[in-house]
Amino acid sequence: MTTTAVTPRIFSGIQPSGAPHLGNDLGAIRNYVRLQAEYEAIYCIVDYHALTSTHDAATLRTRTREMAATLLSLGLDPERCTLFVQSHRPECTELAWLLTTVTPVSWLERTPTYKEKKQNQPDDINHGLLTYPVLQAADIILYKATMVPVGRDQAAHLELSREIVRAFNNRYGDTFPEPQAVYTEAPVVLGTDGVRKMSKSLGNAIEVLADPETVRKQVMGMVTDTTRALRKDPGHPDTCNVCQLQRFFGDDHEGLWEGERTAQTGCVDMKKLLAARITDHYAAARERYLELMATPDRVDEILAAGAERLKPLATATMAEVRERMGLR
Ligand code: TYM
Repeated sequence: MTTTAVTPRIFSGIQPSGAPHLGNDLGAIRNYVRLQAEYEAIYCIVDYHALTSTHDAATLRTRTREMAATLLSLGLDPERCTLFVQSHRPECTELAWLLTTVTPVSWLERTPTYKEKKQNQPDDINHGLLTYPVLQAADIILYKATMVPVGRDQAAHLELSREIVRAFNNRYGDTFPEPQAVYTEAPVVLGTDGVRKMSKSLGNAIEVLADPETVRKQVMGMVTDTTRALRKDPGHPDTCNVCQLQRFFGDDHEGLWEGERTAQTGCVDMKKLLAARITDHYAAARERYLELMATPDRVDEILAAGAERLKPLATATMAEVRERMGLR
């Protein structure tokens, strides 16, 4: 790997915050898998970021390995991409500190995710929450990545990363490229409530690798078309979250939607079908996940190799940054 990539370099990060859900997969992980075939791709399990909300050491350790096994089972191939744990390549923390010196506090205070977190965890508004996007910028630009597959909830963080890059380059000369977000066809997956984005912490998630019964319960609990009072009323697939999700599981959604519009099918039929399709779709990944979790050393080896592979790149960027900033 050279400091400046010949083909665009991809970087993305995911928090080890428990069971992955449809939002993670449809909004981001599908793109991680797709892009690894075309570009030099680096994927990171961001355990430093997770420390802003997860404070139990054993939980964090377990979830980090689980997230690695999840990503591998969903299709990340260690021969085609680099998968690593953020804290195994700690240069990002030094870079994050250096970037804080070009980042006005006001930019961080206005970040929507910071405002959200302040509301969600009012007894734990730690400093890490405020500087969270600076560390995210450091993650990306340490590897001079230019394309960042994420869901739309990360748009503000990506915008801030670009602003930080511009601020750094203005002060110290052209050093970093500006990263761009890359979205899937489902940049915002709504949760089972049909209103808010799907999120583990909001309790509205459908877990992709859960057992079939759990998936069935989560899907059957979904809010559907609220304007459809009776089974014989016509449905509105454009606004029904269950119908929207059918787009990603099978190629017959147009026909299914027609059935809804003409009231040939009902919401319960649609939910049963969706639950069955989700379970089928992820059955092989679930098997692979269980196999990987039964051979944790293999997972740890992949993560260690990933961090090692990135060392020359991280070291080269940090040498350049220190030089530009006048650190001797
Ligand atoms: P995280 O761990 O919250 O989410 C991981 C990825 O899943 C996407 N996502 C969604 N997409 C669509 N609909 C949803 N309901 C949904 N929920 C989650 C997220 O957009 C994300 O792409 N701050 C990041 C982690 C991070 C990072 C980075 C990302 C740290 N450093 C550098 C990119 C580059 C986060 O908390 O993602």
